[in-house]
Amino acid sequence: MSRRLKLAILASGRGSNFEALVRASKEKRMDAEVALLVANKGDAGASDIAKREGIDVLTSLSKGRGAQHEREVLAAVAAARADLVCLAGYMRVLSPSFVRELEGRLINIHPSLLPAFPGLDAQAQAHRAGVRIAGCTVHFVDADVDAGPILAQAALAVDPAWNARDLAERILALEHKLYPAAVEMLASGKARYDQGRVVFAGARAPGHPLFSADAL
Ligand code: GRF
Repeated sequence: MSRRLKLAILASGRGSNFEALVRASKEKRMDAEVALLVANKGDAGASDIAKREGIDVLTSLSKGRGAQHEREVLAAVAAARADLVCLAGYMRVLSPSFVRELEGRLINIHPSLLPAFPGLDAQAQAHRAGVRIAGCTVHFVDADVDAGPILAQAALAVDPAWNARDLAERILALEHKLYPAAVEMLASGKARYDQGRVVFAGARAPGHPLFSADAL
């Protein structure tokens, strides 16, 4: 991928990562544009942001059986000619056939340093465990939850005085930097997906996949 990427973003929640991607595109921090938002809750904060920014929004999706819902999402992604589909807090488990259909074009952000703390409330899990280093991960999606080849991670040192909420806020701020940086790695060709692995162009080239909170 080395032209301006078209993104479809799937988001359910408050939409702060969606907003971070939209802003990074506008500010040309990544060579990608947001072509479509799929929001599976009508009241998602992301929908309001998308409407304000003139981005197409798909909200009226089938709520019932997964297969119909996923067909609608795939049709919208195809109609938008999206190169890359970014999950940003999409609260639905995706079927293996959906994931297979988008293999190498589907990425997710998760608020922990995977493979530690997959699943819900990753930040609270990390806080309970008393980690000294926390962070977030952008990865290609495979059939398992919060699993798949890792594209980028960012880490921060944990202040022992922080409560779980403090930690979650710090991680979220880092997510907002990491997600656009990870998309830019794909847009610029510094990283690409190849048969279940992420291949980097130049192991220690600028844009090395190891980020720290200070470097982003
Ligand atoms: C983020 O913490 C993301 O890592 C997780 O879901 C949350 C979505 O937050 N997958 P927001 O809606 O982008 O604010």
